[in-house]
Parts: sequence; C-alpha cells; structure tokens
Amino acid sequence: MNAAPENLQSVFDRTFAGISQGLDNFTSQLTQREVGTVISVATGIAKVSGLPGVGFEELVKFPGDVLGIAFNVDEDEIGVVLLGEYQDLHAGDEVERTGRVMDVAVGEELLGRVIDPLGRPLDGKGFLQTDKRLPIERPAAAVMDRAPVTVPLQTGLMAIDALIPIGRGQRELILGDRQTGKTAIALDTILNQRGKNVICVYCAIGQRASAVAKVVANLREKGAMDYTVIVVAEGNDAPGLTYITPYAATSIAEYFMEQGRDVLIVYDNLTQHAEAYRELSLLLRRPPGREAFPGDIFYIHSRMLERATHLSKERGGGSLTALPIIETEAQDISAYIPTNLISITDGQIYLSPSLFELGVLPAVDVGKSVSRVGGAAQRAAYRAVAGDLKLAYAQFEELETFARFGARLDDDTRKIIEHGRRIRACLKQPEFSPVSVPAQITVLLALTANLFDPVPLEKMTEAAHAVQAAAEKIPAEVNARLDTAAKLSDEDKKIIVEIARNVLAPFQPKPEPKPEVKPDAKPAAKIEPKEKP
Ligand SMILES: Nc1ncnc2c1ncn2[C@@H]1O[C@H](COP(=O)(O)OP(=O)(O)OP(=O)(O)O)[C@@H](O)[C@H]1O
Ligand SMILES: [Mg+2]
Repeated sequence: MNAAPENLQSVFDRTFAGISQGLDNFTSQLTQREVGTVISVATGIAKVSGLPGVGFEELVKFPGDVLGIAFNVDEDEIGVVLLGEYQDLHAGDEVERTGRVMDVAVGEELLGRVIDPLGRPLDGKGFLQTDKRLPIERPAAAVMDRAPVTVPLQTGLMAIDALIPIGRGQRELILGDRQTGKTAIALDTILNQRGKNVICVYCAIGQRASAVAKVVANLREKGAMDYTVIVVAEGNDAPGLTYITPYAATSIAEYFMEQGRDVLIVYDNLTQHAEAYRELSLLLRRPPGREAFPGDIFYIHSRMLERATHLSKERGGGSLTALPIIETEAQDISAYIPTNLISITDGQIYLSPSLFELGVLPAVDVGKSVSRVGGAAQRAAYRAVAGDLKLAYAQFEELETFARFGARLDDDTRKIIEHGRRIRACLKQPEFSPVSVPAQITVLLALTANLFDPVPLEKMTEAAHAVQAAAEKIPAEVNARLDTAAKLSDEDKKIIVEIARNVLAPFQPKPEPKPEVKPDAKPAAKIEPKEKP
C-alpha cells in the first residue's frame, strides 16, 4: 500500500521537471524572434510592417537569406534597403530582426582576396577564414587621437610626387571626365607601394564587371595582390550593396590602420556611389534636393572620408590615406558632387581631357590641382626643387596658349616656353611604370639646372629615361639622404647634377659649334627684334 503513492510521487516529480524544463526552453525561443511582413518590394527597396522594435540601420533577414538594412524607421512602416537578389521576394513574406548592424569580415586573411561588401568571395578561392568582424559604419577617430601628416605616400608618378605631393593620412580627390586616366593613377599608386609596407584596399563601386576584371588582372600580374584587398560592387548589383561597399572597404582598411599599419584606400568611384544613394533615397520617398540628390549626400561622403587619418602614437600611429575618384561631366568641376568632395578632401588632382588627347599622360592639369597638406610631408629633396618647377610650369602653361597662334615671341618668353615643354616631357609617364625617388630627384634637379634645355624635343623621352637610369650611379650615402626627411646639401646636389650632365652630353645637338648657342633658338631669334624698351 505504501509503495503506490511513492511511485506516483516520483512520476509526478519527473513529469513536472520535464515540463518546467520544456517551459524554460520554450520561453527563451519566444523572446528571440521578432517577425514582420513584407508589404511591397520595389527596385532594391522593401516596405515592411510589424517590426516595432527595429532600430535605425539594423540588419533584417528575408527568406532565402537575403539581408536588408532598416533605413526609414517610421511608426507603422519600415523602408528596408535590400542587399541581394530580391527577385524572389513577395508581399506577405516574413522578415526577421537580427538585432545587429551590418558588419564585415576583416583581418590579414583578406589580403590578396577579391570580395563583395558582404564578405563573399568573388575570386573562387573559397570562403574567408576569419573570425574578426567590424561594423561597416564606425565613428571616425577623435581630434585628439589624430596626428599631423608627416610622411609622404609616394605615387611613383613624377607629376604628382613633385607638384601635388600626397602624405600618409591625407585625402586626395582624383577627378576628371570619363576615360582620362583616373583609375590608372590609382593603380600606379598601388603598384608603387610594393615593398613600402603599405596595405592597399581598392574599392570598385558600380563599375562594369569587365573594368573590374581588368584592374584585378593588372594588380595580379604586377604582383600587387600580396598587399592588396579588392572590394567590389558591380554595376548590376542591388543599389543597397553599391551603397554599403565603400563603408565596408573603409572598415577593412581601418582594421589594418588600427594595427599601426599604413593603409591606402581607393574609392573608384564615388559618383556611382552618390547615384546609388540618390536612387535609394528617391525610392524611399525622401525629398530630393539639388540635382535630385538627397540633402544628406554631403554628410554620407564626409563621414566616410573623415575616417581616413593619421593616428597619434598612443593609438598605434597607423594611417589611412584615401584616394576617392569622381567622374566629372564635360569638365564641370563645379557640379554638386565634385564641389562637395573638393571641400571634404585635402586637395584634388584634376585630369584634363585636352591634355589626354594631346598625349600628355598622366593628364594632370597642374593649375587646377592642389594638395593642401602633402607639402609638409614631402621629402626635403623634392621641396628644394618643387617651388621653382611649379612656377616655371605655371608660367609656361599661361604662355603656351599665345605660342599656339604663332605669335612672335621675345627671347625670354621663348625660353620659358621651351623650358616648360621640357618639364612637360619629363613629367610624362606611361602606365604601370612607377619611377623611384632617386630617379625622380635626378630628373628634377637636371630640370631646374636647365640641363635639358639644349636637348631637342623629339629626343626628350630618351634623354629623360637615360637620366632616370643614371640615378643608380648616385653614391649610397647621398641616396640614403634622398629617402629621408634630411635636406640635400649643395654638395649632394652638385654630385647628382654632374651625373645628369654626363648622361645628357650625347643628347646635345652635334652641329652647333658652341654649347651656349641654344639650338631651338635659331628660327625665331633671327626674325624678331627684342620688344623690351
Ligand atoms: N599614363 C598613361 N599612359 C598611357 N596610357 C594611359 C595612361 N593613363 C591611362 N591610360 C589609358 O587611358 C585609358 C583610360 O584610362 P582609365 O581607365 O584609367 O581612365 P578612367 O578615367 O578611369 O576611365 P573611366 O571613366 O572609364 O573609369 C586606358 O585605356 C588606359 O590604358
Ligand atoms: Mg576608371
């Protein structure tokens, strides 16, 4: 008789224990899921209802693992920017909150990889094996965490390193019409970072797939992928994906910067980014402003580019140099997006289609280009010659227009023009052939010493190459000074100029009996009298 209640007791105990355990599991599941419903789907946008707790820019999940970002958070409806193929989404589909913001995989494993902003591989090399992630939107470094820009970022392009120098941590805009060599400048800069301990991130935004493939092939072929990450949103990707790409790329770059490394990031190009954002904003029924861009278009670019900086020693001393690219229409640099970016960045490199047509490549328009902070970071050896060079080149550009009309010119003017033409010839450079610092300095010193002036124009390319090659003869101790902040002594300069003079000797025109008679002076000199009183 006693055994029965005891049995019953244990059965009850077990049962209740099981129920309470099940109850525990059940409640925890309930609190985790918050599900809403898709009301409508348009190009890259979904309207969702029934997610009252969702936060601004929170990631939400649709069926088929399509992700979206909550962009417009209203009382009874949410505008979601879709980050993937949305063809299979329908009204009535479930939407789930994730409780986190958009983030991206970061780390050393990304070097050499081509990925999309969601971290999916595009190079067929398998999934990324990294456990580190960073949100794509992060606050920029505070003022006190920043240090002045003091170290140059050599592009290997003489026109830029000498006249529009870029420093590590600077933001320098590259702008110009389509097909003027904007991407080429960015690629040359990446190639030139080989062996310089700089990590590069190339961010392709809304470009044709074939153009991106060409860039990847070039970087791979030239051995630049070892230190480069490529983040791509193609032209046919959802506008949401295009919109987040530069932010994701910046987070990838920031990870390296925070490890104390020097990083270069190229945004190619932000015109496409602005257009993707305009598309999203208009679809979300945000009020259009100038050129139909939304009012916060300046803010979205400035908060991205503010993340490029040189960190102070306490924060590791890393740097992030940004080269945003912008496409102008019909050379109109005063359009909305170009003026915005000109005012956000620390300078711009303007590429002129007319120079491109003339074959002056890279087609940098020195008059319209400026670097507002790079001068302080420029090596002293450059600074010694840059001033003279800039002045001579500016004078030449001004006078060149006159010369085109076949006007009769006085001796001084002609000299300035002939000298300017030689500067231009020396600054010309084919693609993918960066010039080392000693070679650049040798050419620039030879230019300022007027050594090139007697060389006939048609031999200038050959002569400039010969001088570049002769830089190898610079003694080691002088060479060491070229690559540091140390000033070149007059003695050093003399050594380098002497080397250039020897190399240029064979290029002097033979028939002329005396060296001081300038060969290019002869046609005009006879005809025109001196115009000065
Ligand atoms: N320094 C150079 N020497 C020779 N060719 C060059 C040079 N720079 C650019 N090019 C050529 O000019 C063309 C346009 O260059 P690039 O693609 O860089 O221009 P872009 O301004 O980026 O064009 P898009 O507007 O289509 O993006 C390319 O065919 C490139 O090979
Ligand atoms: Mg391009």
